[in-house]
Amino acid sequence: MKSARLPIPGAAYHSRETFSRETEKIFGQAWSFLCHKNEIKEDNAYVVRQIGTEDVIVVHLGNEEYAAYINICPHRCAKLVTAVEGNCKGRFVCPYHAWTFNVQGELIVVPAQEHYLKDLSLDDHRLVAVKCELWNGLLFANLDRNDSSLVAALGNFPEYLRDYSHSIEEMELVTTVIMDVAVNWKIIVENYVEDYHFSFVHPQTLKVFDHKATQTTPTGDNILVYMPYRQTRPAGPCKYPWATDGGSPQGFIWPSMTIQPAVNHLSIFQIVPLEPERTVVRIPVYQTPEQKRNWPMDIDELTVNIHTDMEEDFVICREMQRNTHSSHYRIGVLSRPHELGIELFANVWWKYMG
Ligand code: FES
Ligand SMILES: [Fe+2]
Repeated sequence: MKSARLPIPGAAYHSRETFSRETEKIFGQAWSFLCHKNEIKEDNAYVVRQIGTEDVIVVHLGNEEYAAYINICPHRCAKLVTAVEGNCKGRFVCPYHAWTFNVQGELIVVPAQEHYLKDLSLDDHRLVAVKCELWNGLLFANLDRNDSSLVAALGNFPEYLRDYSHSIEEMELVTTVIMDVAVNWKIIVENYVEDYHFSFVHPQTLKVFDHKATQTTPTGDNILVYMPYRQTRPAGPCKYPWATDGGSPQGFIWPSMTIQPAVNHLSIFQIVPLEPERTVVRIPVYQTPEQKRNWPMDIDELTVNIHTDMEEDFVICREMQRNTHSSHYRIGVLSRPHELGIELFANVWWKYMG
C-alpha cells in the first residue's frame, strides 16, 4: 500500500481558502448522494439537497425517470423551491415574479409576459440541469459536466454490497436524523474510516461487532469497511441486533457518504459541509417492508439512540477541531491496518486538491 503523500495539514481543517477549493475541486466534481428513489415515489415528487454550496432539486418525472436542477431561478437567481420536499404537481413556480417551469426544466409561463417582457424567448431561460443517476435505488447527482459515470465512481461497492441480505432498492425511509456539528467535514470522514477507536469510544454501542477483525479496503476513491459480527452473542442488552455469522458491509463513498447495512435497517450518513468548521450530518434510516414487519422501529427511541451513538464520536471530533488551530497539530503515527482509512482518504484528498 502506497503511503499518503502528506498528512492533511491542520490549517486545511479551518481555512476558508481550502474550503472554497474543496467546494470547486471535490464537491463540484464528485457524485453526491441525494435520496432513495422511494423518497420521491410519486410522479412530480421532489426533494432538495445541498451539494457543496449548491442547492439541488431532484424530481421524479414518472416511470423511474429523474431529473435534477440547480435550485435557482434563471430570471434573477431567487431560490426557486423553498420547501425541502413536496410534490410540485408538474411545475415549479418562482416565488419572486412567478416564472413557471415544468419538470423538464423548461420555462413555460411568464405571467403577463406581453406587459413585462414582450420580446422574451422562453427557450433562453431553462433551469440549469445537473447529471443525476440511480444505483440500487439510490439517487446521486454530479455538478460537473464531464462524462464520468456513477458506476465507475463506485468501484467494487455494488459487488461488495451483494453480501447484504436485504434489498436496498426496496427500502423505504423510516426517518432522517439531522445533526449540526461544529467540525470540519474531513474530521467526520476520518473518524468514520478508522476502527482503532471502536473498542474505546463505542464499547457498548458497537459491541455486536468484532472490532479487531474490521477490514479496511480501498476501491477507487472509496473505502470498504467490513465489520464482522462476533462469533458469540455479546453479554447484556444491545441496541444493534447481533447476527449469527457474516458481518456488515459498510463503507465510505467519496467524498461525503457512508453506508451502514445492518440486520434490521440500513442507514446512510450524508456529510454536508456548510462552513470550514461546521458540518451537517443527515442520517436517513431505511428498512425493507420485511425488516419493517420483523423489526418495527420506535422513531423517538431510534432518534435518541442515533444522537447518543453519534455524540460518542462528536464529543471527541469537536475537540480535535479545536486542536487543528494549535501550532502543535500533527499526525504522530497511524496504526496499520486499523487507521489505514485515514491514509487512503488523505491520498484521495491530495489527488483532488493537489
Ligand atoms: S427571480 Fe424568479 S421569477 Fe424573478
Ligand atoms: Fe465512532
